[in-house]
Amino acid sequence: MPSHIAIIMDGNGRWAMSKGLERISGHNTGVESVRRVAEACSELGIGNLTLYAFSTENWNRPKHEVDALMELLVRTISGEMKTFIDNNISLRAIGDLDQLPPACREELDAAIDKTSLHTGLNLILALSYSARWDILNATKNIAADAAKGDLQPSDINENTFKSYLSTAPFPDPELLIRTSGEHRISNFLLWELAYTELYFCDKLWPDFEKDDLYLSILDYQKRERRFGLTSEQLR
Ligand code: FPP
Repeated sequence: MPSHIAIIMDGNGRWAMSKGLERISGHNTGVESVRRVAEACSELGIGNLTLYAFSTENWNRPKHEVDALMELLVRTISGEMKTFIDNNISLRAIGDLDQLPPACREELDAAIDKTSLHTGLNLILALSYSARWDILNATKNIAADAAKGDLQPSDINENTFKSYLSTAPFPDPELLIRTSGEHRISNFLLWELAYTELYFCDKLWPDFEKDDLYLSILDYQKRERRFGLTSEQLR
């Protein structure tokens, strides 16, 4: 079983348009997929689930869609508190959280605080997140610590670098799922995905069911993860 699954939840807009609905209806219905997948991961004993909920680039969408997504985020976080409690889920977040509107940030911080003692799944929301932002931010902080003399450049290794990323508390994902038939990483977890198994699913995110998650895990379990070694070495 993977200890960490990351998901690019794509296709909400297309799902809505195909039904003659506003794009935001796709995001609203996408929340139900979020609940299903979080429950399924909890039931399977998976430790970490990272969801790409809002990218740095998403700030450039039409203002009404950005506002609606922020409002949906606030509503979802407060509305899903029972799901978090019933499933012992701890809410976490990665990204440039200072960019979030104050109401959204307050709701998020309160929910993170309220669920911090839960020992089950870490449900990690990537919000105002992009991997290049995270890598640049880490680099600036490393440079600042080196300039202060707290860090020797020759001592910087992969573990040091990882410790400066917003994903530092979590293991790298073993499995990345992207829905909607697109085959891209889209600035998500570029450092952390170095050895991750990629799984692409044609379904649009609002149609994603628990069974689709199980299929992705079964597919992952059939892969041979070599980490640069040969099959013979692994045997
Ligand atoms: C991508 O679909 C999805 C998003 C940008 C937002 C994802 C948000 C949710 C599923 C709802 C809120 C989530 C949480 C965790 C509270 P798209 O709009 O790019 O779809 P398209 O490619 O079909 O246009």
